[in-house]
Amino acid sequence: MRPLSETWEALRSLEPASLPTPLRTRLAELWARDALLEHASVASFSKFSLHLMAVAAPPALLHDAHRAALDEIQHARLCFALASAYAGEPLGPGPLPLEGDLLGPLDLPTISAAAVREGCIGETLASLEAAEAHEQARAQAPREALGTIAEDEARHAELAWRFVRWAIDQGDEATRVAVERAFREALQGPRPEESVPDPMEEELAYHGRLSERQRSLLWTQGLFEVVKPAAEALLGRVF
Ligand SMILES: [Fe+2]
Ligand SMILES: [Fe+2]
Repeated sequence: MRPLSETWEALRSLEPASLPTPLRTRLAELWARDALLEHASVASFSKFSLHLMAVAAPPALLHDAHRAALDEIQHARLCFALASAYAGEPLGPGPLPLEGDLLGPLDLPTISAAAVREGCIGETLASLEAAEAHEQARAQAPREALGTIAEDEARHAELAWRFVRWAIDQGDEATRVAVERAFREALQGPRPEESVPDPMEEELAYHGRLSERQRSLLWTQGLFEVVKPAAEALLGRVF
């Protein structure tokens, strides 16, 4: 995790005021959208920690879940710092809506299926997306932020795979079935629609943003070339 102070330095060199207004506005919106997702991820890991406790998971997993929540706070800070720089005004999160049944069912099959969807699939694809955006970014501040985010998200994905492995090893057939179903639904679900090329694609990439076209290509590729073989190795079956 890089200190935020280095990012403040890098933010100065962005000189957002010199960018055309439509590009600046889009960059501010896109970074703010990610910032809110990162902010919500803090709560997701708090929930995951409680789920781990509900099923008596080993302490190493609990430790890493808490650490991941701290990573997400850093991601939210980095993304809000970028969104604020592009917007030219300070942006931050409002209250997170937390009404209703936050924890859901606490049985191992349900918790494992959620970890497949959000962690094994969601975090894996998020880490691939951040790594690709990092690769393409030329502006220093977003490039550095994405480097940190890509590394952390890969660790979060790994945590989810470790948890699901542990859950399956508990020997309950219902857990195995729930895990298989969650992978199958994602792998056989609808593919993202092909988006039209974005006229700002190059400028967005310079500032660390992938277009919708690039994102959907990357997600499909990640799902079939990374998640599918890993799921097959985990479950010893072909999807
Ligand atoms: Fe994150
Ligand atoms: Fe994450």
